[in-house]
Amino acid sequence: MAKELFAGQKQDRYKIIIGRDAISKKNLALLLKQHKKVLIISDNGIPANIIKKVTSICKTSSKIYSILLTKGEKAKSLENFQKILNFLAQNNFDRSDAIVALGGGVIGDISGFAASCYLRGIQFIQVPTTLLAQVDSSVGGKTAINISAGKNLVGAFYNPKGVIIDTMVLDSLPKREFKAGLAEVLKYAFIQNRYLFSLLKRNCKKIMSMDKKIIEEIIFESIKTKAKIVTKDEKENGIRAILNFGHTFGHAIEAEGKYQKILHGEAVAKGMLIAARISYLENLISKKDLIDVQSLLEAYEFDLSIDQYKYKSLKPYILRDKKIKGGQLNLVLLNKISNAIVTDRFNPANLSKSLK
Ligand SMILES: NC(=O)c1ccc[n+]([C@@H]2O[C@H](COP(=O)([O-])OP(=O)(O)OC[C@H]3O[C@@H](n4cnc5c(N)ncnc54)[C@H](O)[C@@H]3O)[C@@H](O)[C@H]2O)c1
Ligand SMILES: [Zn+2]
Repeated sequence: MAKELFAGQKQDRYKIIIGRDAISKKNLALLLKQHKKVLIISDNGIPANIIKKVTSICKTSSKIYSILLTKGEKAKSLENFQKILNFLAQNNFDRSDAIVALGGGVIGDISGFAASCYLRGIQFIQVPTTLLAQVDSSVGGKTAINISAGKNLVGAFYNPKGVIIDTMVLDSLPKREFKAGLAEVLKYAFIQNRYLFSLLKRNCKKIMSMDKKIIEEIIFESIKTKAKIVTKDEKENGIRAILNFGHTFGHAIEAEGKYQKILHGEAVAKGMLIAARISYLENLISKKDLIDVQSLLEAYEFDLSIDQYKYKSLKPYILRDKKIKGGQLNLVLLNKISNAIVTDRFNPANLSKSLK
């Protein structure tokens, strides 16, 4: 049975459906039935059978148009953004029409941003096809593209009309991408979801071998946590910052490698260990808690080596982190397991110590 959750406030509230074969006529056609025209945006890394399935379901209710971008982070460009907007205009899309974002976080981010801008906003539906997009980017309303000055520097907070998370699409996902998505799942366990922590601890083998029943449950628990946080704090004025646990260091590691060497989730796994170490050095968590965090990361076979990173080379990226407010670096630390806090009160010396 598919599971359902809601995120967003008042008239912006949207349903998230999670389950095996959630990409169904019942779920999709219901969301699309008032939209005469629908643009499906995807990329050439998404298996053709998934695109075909979604297209043929959407066809039953709407006239279908499609755009296929070239896969990769580079797809989140100003050029592609303009290409989508021109396509919508040339095909006379109006405010009653819609976009379906069918793909990973790259497709979700650029499609959502295009939807937020075209005619000052048309509706869009997220059909995420990577684990990262299913547990993270498809929910919360953050949309963005990259410009030459940096990643995700241009975007909008814009909620989708609905999110359809089908666990079957994960079958074709490369193992490395799947594991990178799992890092975000572990994140929710560390910052707020104790039940998810124990699920992850007890079911490592099943999860690593892609047992659908348990995968569905960890996606549900992840989204439950994310939906709760983003609904409370839609525009990241407070509590939402805890979703960045491990990301200050993760982003620095990614940036230092020029986004070529390491996947986001792999960098976040290292970053979460560093943040847990600082939490220990700050006397917030016990040695046992630190070991529990590290053991869970190890159980999921994350490469936690950080010897190659010197604080000196990561520092410029850490200080550029967007969580700096008024010149002060804010860190997301653990007060205990499944209880994260945001603080600017820490001993700066512990930043470099945590990398040793
Ligand atoms: N908006 C947010 O809140 C938010 C949160 C986290 C990350 N992001 C963004 O998400 C992006 C990363 O997303 P991602 O990790 O999903 O990467 P991605 O979208 O690039 O997808 C990774 C690769 O997997 C392929 N793929 C997608 N679905 C597949 C499937 N079912 N089977 C086989 N291959 C498939 C894609 O073609 C791509 O080559 C980044 O741009 C990041 O900034 C946004
Ligand atoms: Zn992340």
